[in-house]
Amino acid sequence: MELDALPVPPESGTVFAGRRFIVVDDGCGVALELAGMLERQGAEVRTPRDVDGPCDGLVHLGALRPAATSVLPEAYEGVRRALAGGLRWLVVASGAGGRFGQPFEGGVGDPRPGAGLRGLARTVAQEYPEVLVRALDVDTKDTPRAIARRMMAELLDTGGPVVVGHEGGLRRGLSLVPAELSGEPVVPLEADGVVLLIGGARGITGRVALELARTSGCHIEVMGRTPEPVGEPAYPDIPDEAGLRRALVAAGRTQEIEATIRRTLVDREIRRNLESLREHAASVRYHSGDVRDAQTVRDLLGDVHRRHGRLDGIVHGAGLVENRLIHDKTPVSFERTYRTKVDGACALAQAARPNLGFFVVLGGLAGVHGVRGESDHAAAGDACATLAHMWRTRLRGRVLVADWARWGTGDEAGPIEPDAGAAALLREIAHGDETQVVFTGAAT
Ligand SMILES: NC(=O)c1ccc[n+]([C@@H]2O[C@H](COP(=O)([O-])OP(=O)(O)OC[C@H]3O[C@@H](n4cnc5c(N)ncnc54)[C@H](OP(=O)(O)O)[C@@H]3O)[C@@H](O)[C@H]2O)c1
Repeated sequence: MELDALPVPPESGTVFAGRRFIVVDDGCGVALELAGMLERQGAEVRTPRDVDGPCDGLVHLGALRPAATSVLPEAYEGVRRALAGGLRWLVVASGAGGRFGQPFEGGVGDPRPGAGLRGLARTVAQEYPEVLVRALDVDTKDTPRAIARRMMAELLDTGGPVVVGHEGGLRRGLSLVPAELSGEPVVPLEADGVVLLIGGARGITGRVALELARTSGCHIEVMGRTPEPVGEPAYPDIPDEAGLRRALVAAGRTQEIEATIRRTLVDREIRRNLESLREHAASVRYHSGDVRDAQTVRDLLGDVHRRHGRLDGIVHGAGLVENRLIHDKTPVSFERTYRTKVDGACALAQAARPNLGFFVVLGGLAGVHGVRGESDHAAAGDACATLAHMWRTRLRGRVLVADWARWGTGDEAGPIEPDAGAAALLREIAHGDETQVVFTGAAT
């Protein structure tokens, strides 16, 4: 959507008198231009290559460097440190052309370096309402002075939205548009079709695997880090967590009780899901591995192609839940969650053959709106939505980032009932065309 144009900032003044700004250098002149403008408003400005001390204002231009690689997840640490020091202004910049990477066809406007920054900014804005937060997407074909001038204007516009794109004289925001989709919730897969689901032995990805198998009878390959359950299941007569805890304590166990309970429940969930899948799928195979490792992913896809001679679809549903406010979320935790989603998706998109029928990444609402306590999911989901425009240039089939409200029934009721959610996803794969779709529950 188009936003109102910004007023031209005054040449000099005292708006930032005595304020310390760090402008993380882009190496192309934007940082120097902006530093000059901030100084003419009374600020003290440094332009290091990374956040290197306390500041009142942080403008992160790392993603505008020529040939930059992704600034996330590494840039999280500096942003978090700056916030802990009492930050008042935060601007993170990407150079995806001012249109958030949407028309990317290669070359200028590479969305990769700044991927995920919007999501991080949206969450910062929610967790730190006192900070002026802006995620700016700019067109690096503009002159450094023009880009810096617009950034300065954004810093002075206290009422603006968090996510803004600048392309030439146009100032844009992003908004969701409601859309209905009709058609049968059946993906056109032949019975000898093959679908790989990362995280597909558990949770909502397991439910999607079952729906694919039920509606097509295809071959299902699933992957998770947990070793494949073998032998007799542990404590088969004890159905729930409380009972397992009582039994372990009664047996004299004093150590690793909680870990044993968790392992037992995960093992049961995997066994149950593989069993249900085998009732419908032509074949089911479980692979134990970590999707963050690109070689593991290449080997996995190679193995699937060797055994089946084809791969029709991939669903990447691996995810971790380590929700914490930024104040308490360590860079290590942020990186673990971020890489599970983003590095996993990139490795899969890279290893897949271009004739793949569909490539789907599952995410949550944090990737669209930002959610308090979910800066990692917000950044990762936003990164996938941004990178999907690149994956589309290589993969000829359906590329979809599907962002979900919570699934659940009974005591854990969510707005999305699992049967309806699985059907909505299959309908979207079969009949939709948008790269990013948000499923809120209202329309399913
Ligand atoms: N559940 C919901 O209501 C909901 C709502 C919105 C979005 N989502 C999204 O949907 C996805 C699945 O959610 P869920 O609730 O079903 O999660 P879940 O039950 O915790 O399942 C996550 C799956 O990911 C696998 N996994 C985690 N890290 C992995 C890694 N490095 N390599 C390979 N597999 C890995 C896990 O298996 P191992 O532990 O064996 O590795 C597990 O099978 C998540 O990405 C989440 O963001 C879910």
